[in-house]
Amino acid sequence: MPRTYYLTTAIDYVNGRPHLGHAYEKIAADAIARYRRLSGFDVKFLTGTDEHGTKVARAAEAAGLDPQTYVDRLSATFREAWDALDVSYDVFVRTTEERHTRTVQRLLERIRDRGDDLYEGSYEGWYCVGCEAYKPEKDLVDGRCADHPGLEPRWVVEENLFFRLGAYRDALLAHVEAHPEFIRPDSRRNEVLAVLRGGLDDVSVSREGLAWGIPIPFRPGATVYVWFDALANYLTGLDFADGGEDLRFWPADLHLVGKDITRFHCVIWPAMLLAAGLPLPRQVYGHGWVLAAGGQRESKSAGNVTDPVALVATYGPDPLRFFLLKEIPFGKDGEFSRERLEERYNSALANELGNLLSRALNMVEKYRGGIPDPGAAREAAVVDLCDRATIAWRHAMDRHQLDEGIDAAWSIVAALNNLIQAREPWRVAKDPHRAEELSGFLYALCEGVRIAACLLQPFVPRTSLHVLQRIGAAGDYGAPVAETAVWGRLVPGTRVVKGEPLFPRLQPT
Ligand code: MSP
Repeated sequence: MPRTYYLTTAIDYVNGRPHLGHAYEKIAADAIARYRRLSGFDVKFLTGTDEHGTKVARAAEAAGLDPQTYVDRLSATFREAWDALDVSYDVFVRTTEERHTRTVQRLLERIRDRGDDLYEGSYEGWYCVGCEAYKPEKDLVDGRCADHPGLEPRWVVEENLFFRLGAYRDALLAHVEAHPEFIRPDSRRNEVLAVLRGGLDDVSVSREGLAWGIPIPFRPGATVYVWFDALANYLTGLDFADGGEDLRFWPADLHLVGKDITRFHCVIWPAMLLAAGLPLPRQVYGHGWVLAAGGQRESKSAGNVTDPVALVATYGPDPLRFFLLKEIPFGKDGEFSRERLEERYNSALANELGNLLSRALNMVEKYRGGIPDPGAAREAAVVDLCDRATIAWRHAMDRHQLDEGIDAAWSIVAALNNLIQAREPWRVAKDPHRAEELSGFLYALCEGVRIAACLLQPFVPRTSLHVLQRIGAAGDYGAPVAETAVWGRLVPGTRVVKGEPLFPRLQPT
C-alpha cells in the first residue's frame, strides 16, 4: 500500500473574490501535492471556502444579497480560479455544506462528551472582525489590530460557551518543543512558542446573536464560532461525520497556511484535536505573503488588488505559477509586479527554457531526423548533472523549499544552454568523422531536457507536458520520478515535434 499524504490549504473567506495571496498559497500547495504524487504517495489535497462569520455576513449585506446566495456566487469564483491555475485539489470543502455542518456538530459533541472542556462563561474584550478573533489589549497598536488597521475593533461582552484552551497549554508546549518539524519555518515556530510560553486564555466557541453560522445542537439559538467551524473543515474532507474510511488520511501531513493564521493552526486546532482524542497533524507550514511592488500588502482599500484570473488570461497559468514559486523564497514574503513577471517570462521561460527546447529539437530534426542513437558515446558530465539535480530537487521538495526545487531543475536547463554554446554542435555536424560524437551529444541534450521537464512538473505542469510530448516522451508525464528521472529512457528513432515556440516573447507594452 502506498503511504498516504494529506495536505490542506487554508479555506478562504468569501468576503471578496480570490486575490493573488490566495492564489499563491493554492499554487504552492499544488506544487507540493504534485511532488508527492510523483514520489508515489497516495495524495489527498484539500482546499475550500470559509463561508460563515461576521465578515462574510457583512459582505453579503453590503452586496444586497441573502448570505447563501452571496456565498454560492463567491465560492464558485474561487473554484474557477483554482481550475484556471491547474490547482489539482481532490476535495473542495464549503463550510455551508451539510457534510461540514455534521462534522462540526459531531466534533463539538465529542469534545463535550469526553470531559469538561466546554463550559458556560462570560467574556468581554476587543473583537477584530478582520481576524474574527478577540485581540488582547497589548496587541493593539493605537487601538487597532496590526493586521487590520482599517477596521475598528469592537468591545464585545458575551455570555457563552467556552473551550478550556488554557488547560492545553502545557501539552501543546511540550508537543511543539518535542517536535521541531511540527511548525515550519523556524520563525513561525518561535512565534508560537512565545505565545505558548506567555500562557493561553480560554476561547468562546459560541456566538449568541449571529444567525449566519452552524447551530450548536445542545445550545438553542447559538451558532459556532467561525474559527472552530472553519478548522474542522480538515476533517470534513475525510468524511469524519460519517466515520468515513478516508480517516486513514488522518493525521494530516501538512496544513499549509499563511503566517497570519499559523497561530490558529498551532494552538486552537491542536487543542481541539487533543480534546476530541484525535491525533495531531504532522506539520503546519506558515508561508509568507505576496506583497505589491514596494512591499505593501494588497488590500481593497489601497486599491492594489491583483486578480489572478486576469493574469492567467494574459500569460497562461504556468508563467504566474513559475514566477510566484521561483521568485519568492518559500516561507518568506515576496513582491509581485506585472513588470517583473514579464521580465522573468522573457528571460527565463522564453529565452532559457523555450530556446533550449527549440534548439534541441531543431538540431535533432535537422541532423538526425529523430532521437539519435548515442551508440557508445556517453556524455558522462550531463548524466552526472541530471543525477545531482534530481537529488537536490528531492532534498528541496521534501522540505517544501519550492524555489530551491525550481532552481535544481533549472540547473539542468542552464547547463545545457551553456554546453550548446561551448560545444558548438553545428560545427561538429560538418565533420563526418565526428558523427558518433554528435549523436551522443544530441541524445544527451534530449535526455537532459526530458529529465528537466520531469522535475519541472510540480511547478509548470502544462509546460512539462508540452515539452515531454514534443520530445517523444509523453508517457513520462505524471509517472513516478523514481522511474522517469533516470538516464536513457528516450528511444532512438522516436520522432520529435518542433512546433511553435513554447513561450513567445512578450513585447514591452
Ligand atoms: N478563512 C480563514 C482561514 C481558515 S483555515 C481553517 C482565512 N481566510 S483568508 O481568506 O483571509 O486567507 C486565506 C489564506 O490566504 C490564509 O492562509 C492567508 O494567510 C492567505 N493570504 C491572504 N493574503 C495573503 C497574501 N497577500 N499573501 C499570501 N497569502 C495570503 O484566513
